[in-house]
Amino acid sequence: MSPDPLFDLTDRVVVVTGASSGIGASAARCFADRGARVVLAARRKERLDELAAELPGSVPVACDVGYPAECANLVDHTLATCGRIDVLVNNAGTQNVTPAEHETPEDFSSVLDVNLGSVFALSTAAARPMLAAGQGSIITIASIFGLVGAGQIPQASYAASKGAVVNLTRELGAQWARRGVRVNAIAPAFFATEMTTGLFADEAAERWMRRKTPMGRAGELDELHGALVYLASGASSYVTGTTLPVDGGWTAV
Ligand SMILES: NC(=O)c1ccc[n+]([C@@H]2O[C@H](COP(=O)([O-])OP(=O)(O)OC[C@H]3O[C@@H](n4cnc5c(N)ncnc54)[C@H](OP(=O)(O)O)[C@@H]3O)[C@@H](O)[C@H]2O)c1
Repeated sequence: MSPDPLFDLTDRVVVVTGASSGIGASAARCFADRGARVVLAARRKERLDELAAELPGSVPVACDVGYPAECANLVDHTLATCGRIDVLVNNAGTQNVTPAEHETPEDFSSVLDVNLGSVFALSTAAARPMLAAGQGSIITIASIFGLVGAGQIPQASYAASKGAVVNLTRELGAQWARRGVRVNAIAPAFFATEMTTGLFADEAAERWMRRKTPMGRAGELDELHGALVYLASGASSYVTGTTLPVDGGWTAV
């Protein structure tokens, strides 16, 4: 069956950071299943090699996005191997769950470097060839904790970084809106990944999460695919600067 032209991603070059696990690996599979050529980036190269063996045409690239020079290398490597870059998914992320009064400035900065600095470094590096081509889509995986506070799971640096990428998405979207490059974000609630292992292993925390979520449950990883495909494809051609919650209603109440 040929793909619906509205959501077609055949032969698109899609870079996914944090593709070695969780949401990133799931997103990479989703794009590859739709005929995209996926560049898989993260630090754990062996994980990327395993995933690349499953996804025809994909390109594994070891990259620590906490360093702007490595972000620039990732974009250069993509252009050298794939010839262009159509979609960038800024997914790599980290957290530091600790009460703010005990979080050191060094720990705060290291979360900001990965969750915010990398989004700026990669988005601007990818935007240059996208702007020259007059087309491109940048998607950042933010969080509900970029739209509201976390509190119960204390993580000031994470909430600050995710709030910042929500507004960075507005600003970059506005700056490039007339030049064919769209910039959007997705704000997920809770999905079972390495990052949330602690929460899902803790019965009381899991109960709290379900109680707070209007739909009464966590999300399944493939429930992010609709938003990813929508924002990556021509289906969202008039959408930029926005953040789409995929949160079972968390931010609706
Ligand atoms: N799971 C949730 O409930 C949830 C909810 C809202 C938002 N999010 C966001 O979704 C994104 C993915 O998280 P996840 O839940 O899938 O967690 P995860 O399974 O722990 O994945 C995090 C990914 O980020 C990569 N990463 C971390 N630091 C990196 C660095 N310095 N350089 C390159 N890659 C790095 C990791 O790869 P390496 O360790 O191999 O480098 C890994 O692939 C994050 O931005 C997270 O904040 C998750």
